[in-house]
Amino acid sequence: MPKFSLESIIRPNILSLKPYRCARDDYATGILLDANENSFGSVINSSAESLNRYPDPYQLDVKERFIDFRGIASVDNTFLGVGSDEIMDLLMRICCIPGKDKILVTPPTYGMYSVCAKINDVEVVKVNLDGRFQLRTDEISKTLSEVPNIKIVFLCSPGNPTGTALSHESIKAILEDVNLRGLVVVDEAYIDFVSEEREGSVAEWVEKYDNLVVMQTLSKSFGLAGIRLGIAIANPFIINMLNNTKAPYNINLMTSQVALSALQPDAIAKMRSMVSLIRAERAKLLSSIANIPSVANILGANDANFILVQIVDGNGKPSNDRAQYVYKQLAEKLGVVVRFRGHEYGCEGSLRITIGTPEQNEALLTKLREVLGESF
Ligand SMILES: Cc1ncc(COP(=O)(O)O)c(C=O)c1O
Repeated sequence: MPKFSLESIIRPNILSLKPYRCARDDYATGILLDANENSFGSVINSSAESLNRYPDPYQLDVKERFIDFRGIASVDNTFLGVGSDEIMDLLMRICCIPGKDKILVTPPTYGMYSVCAKINDVEVVKVNLDGRFQLRTDEISKTLSEVPNIKIVFLCSPGNPTGTALSHESIKAILEDVNLRGLVVVDEAYIDFVSEEREGSVAEWVEKYDNLVVMQTLSKSFGLAGIRLGIAIANPFIINMLNNTKAPYNINLMTSQVALSALQPDAIAKMRSMVSLIRAERAKLLSSIANIPSVANILGANDANFILVQIVDGNGKPSNDRAQYVYKQLAEKLGVVVRFRGHEYGCEGSLRITIGTPEQNEALLTKLREVLGESF
């Protein structure tokens, strides 16, 4: 349990906010003439019902199915956002006073935490991961004690671009750190891709830690990046702050209808079988890349649906020049687009490669061998 009040993390203007209420919060059935919708219907004939109506502000049906799927105690522990990206932004707006408060991130990590902080005029404090892409808990603790006003610590597990899940012990150490005076946000966008024998989600810890927020998403394992649905799992007080601050109807009707289908048992089974295929392809791709002579190392623990490949020079040293050359040749001459990540801390010379279908991975390997073989 944190040794500070949750209220102390929240900006005073948010704490005293009276959320927008509509008549439908009180009455949702009958002849609905309360919200200035088009009573004649909509211009689109859609399989989605009631496109002319505003969607449910709280999306209880989707939440019920989600908590059932993840084994979370209550819908009061969940919030739905327009992707995890919206949740990140809301958390910063709820907790961080612009120009005063700060967040802590652990590079190399997902770039949106810093982009979002910049948009909100929130300073970013950095404590790099160690050589195995794990948390340096002592260094984080020291920073928390020395730097005032750190309101959120963003941890990414499995990390992007590291592809490495953080140890539970280290996450716990941050949550229990005596110097912590803020939220710990664990971004679990890639959690379903972690192998069963490794440590999984920390979502159920929200029962114990009031200041823990776990973010998940339907964008990755469910293959639904297009519908933009992210989920925050947290203490009901934090969920309430998120609800009070969000736009009234942030989750649109088509998103919630697709999400309801995605959280049915048959679709969940399909997600699990896709995840198994992706894990198997990941293993195959890793062993093939390991056999490309002397030019590529693998970085990280490969817990996500991508791998991080380091391109080295003739002396075995990581090389951004070579990596950038490979990146461009692949994209411009060979039609395969990967991501150059060589400017991220600890990732010199690296390319992040999403696991594709077997055919896509074969094509990638052929083309990677072609560029690496012919050029160096
Ligand atoms: C670590 C991490 N978190 C969050 C996201 C964004 O998720 P969403 O699509 O739910 O906004 C991504 C997307 O690449 C990601 O890599």
